[in-house]
Amino acid sequence: MNSDQKKQQAAIAALAYIEENTIIGVGTGSTVNHFIDALAARKLRIQGAVSSSEASTERMKKHGIEVFDLNSAGDLDVYIDGADESDGQLRLIKGGGAALTREKIVAAASRRFICIADDSKLVEVLGKFPLPVEVIPMARSYVARRLRALGGRPVWREGVITDNGNQILDVHDLRITDPVALEDAINQIAGVVTVGLFARRPADVLILGTDAGPKTLP
Ligand code: A5P
Repeated sequence: MNSDQKKQQAAIAALAYIEENTIIGVGTGSTVNHFIDALAARKLRIQGAVSSSEASTERMKKHGIEVFDLNSAGDLDVYIDGADESDGQLRLIKGGGAALTREKIVAAASRRFICIADDSKLVEVLGKFPLPVEVIPMARSYVARRLRALGGRPVWREGVITDNGNQILDVHDLRITDPVALEDAINQIAGVVTVGLFARRPADVLILGTDAGPKTLP
């Protein structure tokens, strides 16, 4: 089974967490795209969704799924999103698709965060995947210097502007043994909008697509 098939398998398994007549949170990425397509195909009667990106909004609207503003939706029961890496405690690196800020907001506003991924995303220690950091454009070089002082090697994701009009630094060469401490340290840097570490608010459930079928953690 290839990684895309595993992503689809995890996405379909996540449908079991959706209750009818609720507004759900929906993340961003190729795994979530499978989830949106599966949700539409099953014709589950949800009220609609709060979206973490313009790309997911567009895909849901094409399927006739109503998209709500988070300010009018209030707290959500469940948030479904992918990840770039997860450790065994379901602490995540996210933001490969540059949607990390809205993803963090919708995850924070949701009672349960169901993360869906193929099994290659599960790692012992976070950091092999470069850690995305969204920055205010005028602070980019300053933040990069501070990230270097923390032991990373930031690389500007040139040409990418986030849905919020900001820029992304991808921080290489990190071995993140204390994700909560690093999340806090990066959040303290002036000009940082969001760091793609989801450690203070990890996933509650991780569904991995595997050759042997969907595997659920914890
Ligand atoms: C988007 O910014 C990311 O956080 C995605 O959730 C992450 O990159 C997973 O993407 P795939 O589902 O495409 O692997």
